[in-house]
Amino acid sequence: MQDYHEFLAETLIDAEVLQKRIAEIGKEISQDYAGTNNLLLICILRGGVVFLVDLMRHITVPHQVDFMAISSYGVGARESEGNVRVTLDLQTNIRDKDVLLVEDIIDSGHTISRVLELLSTRQPRSLKVCALLDKAERREVDVPIHYRGFDIANKFVFGYGLDIDEYYRSLPFIGVVDLEKLQGN
Ligand code: PRP
Repeated sequence: MQDYHEFLAETLIDAEVLQKRIAEIGKEISQDYAGTNNLLLICILRGGVVFLVDLMRHITVPHQVDFMAISSYGVGARESEGNVRVTLDLQTNIRDKDVLLVEDIIDSGHTISRVLELLSTRQPRSLKVCALLDKAERREVDVPIHYRGFDIANKFVFGYGLDIDEYYRSLPFIGVVDLEKLQGN
């Protein structure tokens, strides 16, 4: 994989700003769910993992975590298709749980819309969405976002869970890709 410094156009959100906002969201979630015993964070793999891990350490309410995977973009493809499919389902029975979906980014909205549709049939007590990044300009279907980290412009971003062909999810900041400098593009 090419060194990311070669195609990093700019740092959109630096690590300090990200962490500060994540702590704020964690505090808000802790207040909203105070007193509940059934909070379940569901992370949509793989992009949401980094956000989940940082976020959960700021949630003071006892909670469980589970994971699901949805296929939409795939390696090499960079446009969401309306066609999304569950490739890994939950281990947890979510009936009567307060479910909070944790996503790195909402783009067209198809992924979260499909997941909400599916999970609502399993009768959770509540079902909400927490997204670190909201690229609203790209929205194709309306989706509720109860906790939102940042509104971002329609730029190709990576880092902090978001990949470039599966690389660089580990970066502590959100960067913008200069597509002309990204090899094989
Ligand atoms: C990204 C992101 C969301 C989805 C958002 O996942 O993590 O799940 O796309 O796009 P949408 O709103 O247009 O549906 P991706 O499919 O790239 O997989 P990944 O999380 O494994 O990187």
